[in-house]
Amino acid sequence: MRTQVGIVGAGPAGLMLSHMLHLKGIESIVLELRSRDYVEKRVRAGVLEHGAMDLINAVGIGDRMMREGMAHHGVNLRFDGETHRIDFEQLTGRGIVVYGQQEVVKDLIAARLEAGGQILFESSEVRLRDIDAKSPTIHFRHNGEDLLLHCDMIAGCDGFHGVCRPSIPDGVLRIHEHTFPFGWLGILAEAEPSSEELIYASHDRGFALHSMRSPTIVRNYIQCEPDEDINEWPDNRIWEELQRRMETREGFRLNEGRILEKGVTPMRGFVAEPMQYGNLYLAGDSAHIVPPTGAKGMNLALKDIKILADAMITRYETGGTDKLEDYSRRCVLGVWRAQHFSWWMTSMLHRFNQHDVYQRQLQLSQLRYVTGSEAAARSLAENYVGMLWDL
Ligand code: FAD
Ligand code: PHB
Repeated sequence: MRTQVGIVGAGPAGLMLSHMLHLKGIESIVLELRSRDYVEKRVRAGVLEHGAMDLINAVGIGDRMMREGMAHHGVNLRFDGETHRIDFEQLTGRGIVVYGQQEVVKDLIAARLEAGGQILFESSEVRLRDIDAKSPTIHFRHNGEDLLLHCDMIAGCDGFHGVCRPSIPDGVLRIHEHTFPFGWLGILAEAEPSSEELIYASHDRGFALHSMRSPTIVRNYIQCEPDEDINEWPDNRIWEELQRRMETREGFRLNEGRILEKGVTPMRGFVAEPMQYGNLYLAGDSAHIVPPTGAKGMNLALKDIKILADAMITRYETGGTDKLEDYSRRCVLGVWRAQHFSWWMTSMLHRFNQHDVYQRQLQLSQLRYVTGSEAAARSLAENYVGMLWDL
């Protein structure tokens, strides 16, 4: 088989790249380990920055997002039994859209398939060969057959546990990693949202987050152990813990309902630099991950693709490779800004083990400053809505 760009992974990064290349007449084939049903149902991130929303609209797949996505103009920080709103619109002139990652994935898959694009779901044993040669190849298994895909370039969009990053020879990548001593237990439940906008709660018992997916579906998280056994958390224990961490002096109660899904995610920050080697370009989670407290994961993946698609298109249209050579440098600035912001939000809002009273007072002081000073609130707002899309 032959294509121009071989893409490994049908998450937001791989699918968006395939779609953007197609709009400029460039062919690609996407190889995905899982089934279509699995990737369309995988519940993950939910917040789109303004720039991500603009990109989705610009590439013509924004209709459903504009209809069903929930425009939010701020978020709430809750601590000491009180709620403080950060008004994004007033502080930055921008907002965010709450629209599930799997909805973005569904919209992209529909657009690709409608245009005759090739996404080979359930492709296994993917191996990259000759990534530093002129024509790299991808070996894989599909429908019981061993296949070989020749291409000009490979995009490694196969997430943190994928095969593309480990295909780069030892000694090329610089790895920066930080593991946080906790995880998030996330649930999806049938209930009406209890607030118009997200609530990030910092409580002595630990962090909690109230988010949503629609007027009838909520997404809530609680800080837990990184290796928490989900079987230890029957539904009533989850709701009880959420209620305690979300409590206010005014007697706030979270709406409860049937839990549709639950899972535990560990929290880490990770950056691999440079995000390229030979004709292989890494994008999204394959190159970097952030703790979810800053809601940056999917946004960063889409931002990488905006830069990568532009560089690949330039190569095909003009033969120029300067943008491709500059790809990693252009992405990494935004990656580190998101790393810092996500680390900062995580540090300010979570309970750390053996937390001493002194450190807790520092967190509370930071929270009071961020919610009390317009300058400090603007800093949070600018980072949250994402101002680095036009770099
Ligand atoms: P992915 O979405 O991971 O896509 C990679 C694709 O590659 C997958 O479809 C995978 O099946 C496929 N793949 C993997 N290995 C292979 C292989 N060997 N061969 C072929 N295909 C392969 N971010 C937030 O902002 N908020 C959240 O609440 C949040 N929750 C998360 C929960 C979990 C469990 C995880 C893992 C991530 C979460 N994230 C969250 C992060 C966010 O979802 C990611 O940043 C985003 O998915 C990145 O998109 P991507 O396309 O780079 O990678
Ligand atoms: C979500 O809705 O899943 C969500 C929202 C904000 C975050 C993380 C996850 O910071």
